[in-house]
Amino acid sequence: MTKHLLLGQTLQFHANPLHGDWQDALSFDSEGGVLIMDGRIAATGNGAKLRADKPDAIVTDYGQHLISAGFVDAHMHYPQTAMIASWGKQLIDWLNTYTFPEESRFGDKAYADEIAGRTMDLALSHGTTTLTSFCTIHPTSVDAYFEAAAARNMAVVGGKTCMDRNAPDTLVDSAQSAYDDSQALLHKWHKTGRATYAITPRFSPTSTPAQLSALGALWAENPDCLMQTHLSEQHDEIAWVKSLFPKARDYLDTYEAYGLLGPRGLYGHAIHLEPREIDRLAEVGAAVVHCPTSNTFIGSGLFDTLGLAARQIRTGLATDTGGGSSFSMLHTMAAAYEIGQLRGTALHPAQLMWLATEGSAQALHMAGEIGHLGVGAMADIVVLDLASTAAIAQRHARATDIWDALFPTIMLGDDRAIADVWVAGRRVA
Ligand code: GUN
Ligand code: ZN
Repeated sequence: MTKHLLLGQTLQFHANPLHGDWQDALSFDSEGGVLIMDGRIAATGNGAKLRADKPDAIVTDYGQHLISAGFVDAHMHYPQTAMIASWGKQLIDWLNTYTFPEESRFGDKAYADEIAGRTMDLALSHGTTTLTSFCTIHPTSVDAYFEAAAARNMAVVGGKTCMDRNAPDTLVDSAQSAYDDSQALLHKWHKTGRATYAITPRFSPTSTPAQLSALGALWAENPDCLMQTHLSEQHDEIAWVKSLFPKARDYLDTYEAYGLLGPRGLYGHAIHLEPREIDRLAEVGAAVVHCPTSNTFIGSGLFDTLGLAARQIRTGLATDTGGGSSFSMLHTMAAAYEIGQLRGTALHPAQLMWLATEGSAQALHMAGEIGHLGVGAMADIVVLDLASTAAIAQRHARATDIWDALFPTIMLGDDRAIADVWVAGRRVA
């Protein structure tokens, strides 16, 4: 069996650095090594010792580069790749003006294939080894997504987006067809290779109570699937939800009432939460997903990373492409840092790296499998060049420790900082 040994600086987490002292949550080795066997990480530790122990391993020496678990994007919309960075609208107008016309194209399998492949390649070139995506209402868009991921051996999460109201005629299904199509796709793709299916009501304004209830029933019948949706992103959206569901106690209740609140639920954005919503998310062990570039780009608000972590609510990090303004999880970490600053809480680089890897993996219930540089995890790995541009290199030259060396890459880095990527133990060419 081929063994690969990667040498470089290594960063490995053992606990959540948002809880307690971040120093206690990780180990950093400036002369580390990662041994890969059979697609998984077989050992980590001192590089020279691993090399002596495994003389038959094929060695790749990355020198001063930082070897990390690959980035895990916990919420994005691959059908929005081609319309990322569209100007001047807030959420509802942005959906109607840019998003829905583009998503209407995904009944065409060839187009869906093209954009799915393009999205995965963009993700990998930015060091992202797992995507969690909304597809469109078209089953073809789901097939295209999982096929593109399988061709690259990537662990991905996705599902058919369900909408039976408040969307153009080209983009509406029904309660019954959403149930039937989602069920068929779930049976086809869930746990096929590295695929995970997520039942996907877009958000409560675009689903009738009948559709939410049908999808709640499907989730109850398939409890090991994930469920992904949006929650409390913008004030206008929340007011709209209140008018559509006058009996609901709050936005989260529009999901809870129909069986769509649970530990495997992923609630994107979750910015303007009521105390009851925070209590319920914490009680059921649901996950929220922070989408910081989207929250500034669409003008949504300031997510409370530390406040929700203090309530032990699992939090993932995500690009939210194309409401988000970047494919890069480095940019995404930078935006999370800036939002933290606007809330008066500076997140440490260790906390940002944790959110982009382990935090997202925990949100997806895949901790230990992905987003983790430790024995037994899949060898989905990103190697970061910490001096990738002139601007970063001159700042890096003054660094006094690894965090000071890494932070300029988080704030200023992009795909040029991605020195290498490994997926399931194979180097991505
Ligand atoms: N809420 C409902 N749909 C969407 C979407 O596509 N993007 C964002 N950012 N929010 C949403
Ligand atoms: Zn979204």
